[in-house]
Amino acid sequence: MPVTAALQYVTATTDRVVSAPSQVLHPRMAEKPHLLITRKLPVAVEARAQRDYHARLNATDEPYGKEELVHAADGSAAILCTTTDRLDAATIGRLPDSVRMLATFSVGFEHIDLAAARARGLIVTNTPDVLTDATADVALLLILGAARRASEGERLIRDDAWTGWAPTHLLGIHVGAKRLGILGMGRIGRAVAARARGFGMVVHYHNRQRLAPQDEAGATFHADAENLLAVADILSIHFPLMPETRYFLDARRIELLPRNAIVVNTARGAVIKDADLIAALRSRRIAAAGLDVYDGEPRLHPDYCTLPNTFLLPHLGSATLETREAMGFRALDNLDAHFAGGMPRDRIA
Ligand code: DGY
Repeated sequence: MPVTAALQYVTATTDRVVSAPSQVLHPRMAEKPHLLITRKLPVAVEARAQRDYHARLNATDEPYGKEELVHAADGSAAILCTTTDRLDAATIGRLPDSVRMLATFSVGFEHIDLAAARARGLIVTNTPDVLTDATADVALLLILGAARRASEGERLIRDDAWTGWAPTHLLGIHVGAKRLGILGMGRIGRAVAARARGFGMVVHYHNRQRLAPQDEAGATFHADAENLLAVADILSIHFPLMPETRYFLDARRIELLPRNAIVVNTARGAVIKDADLIAALRSRRIAAAGLDVYDGEPRLHPDYCTLPNTFLLPHLGSATLETREAMGFRALDNLDAHFAGGMPRDRIA
């Protein structure tokens, strides 16, 4: 059993005392393992990492290129990486032999070639659960922002162009009683459904497997994703980016949506074919889109920014201090379990 000792951290930004992560003295290691942390993490997470590891931090927060990552990992036993690191097969193949584990600070893991990691005997973990609520909150923010024309309204204020209240000014779409189609009813999809019910939306979903009745909570299951599209007045995408979901929402499938539908994406940008969604937004075949993620981010298709009927956020799904701390602690828990000779709870390879 790992030896534990309680510590408390006061976060720099809020003065909150955060839950005391336990100190793990790795009984199987002669000294603290070397850990490369590729991006700047919340203060409390870096403090715990430095306490328990020889942690190489990234104070500038400049993302590593693939070549730099390989060099920076020299001598490290593990890498705590993020969704901005491209750990493709070639990069994994060139990692120093010392590296035995990749702990990604994300639930998504499309940036890691799992087959290449397995072939090399690397352990890979992610951080599920802890970002479910934050991401579901942002999905609702996008639904409401897109439906209620929040970008247009805010721009009027910021441009000092608002001339006053008017009965027909900036009329949006009422979300109550609308059918919300959830593509991918995992943890985040279910959390979105729970919130949407509070707004009076009627939940439909597609998932690889039908949920148990208590998880379905009255939602209507569609075994075929395209049948879901046909009833989705509001479509919220929550499936992971995989070869079979890449560019899923293209012109043909957009045509299956009801007229004036709203499209929301908090999953990964590349599940949407940007040019096709932009054409549909421009013609008003689709009323509005709320997007948090983009194909090729941080660059995004420039037309999204010129369209009035888009509500756009810069990948903020999990961006609360509490959530990012929890993600960091979860990644460290996984590392601790591995270096203590156990099985990390969130092992995906
Ligand atoms: C994830 O965890 O996959 C998010 O997209 C990063 O916030």
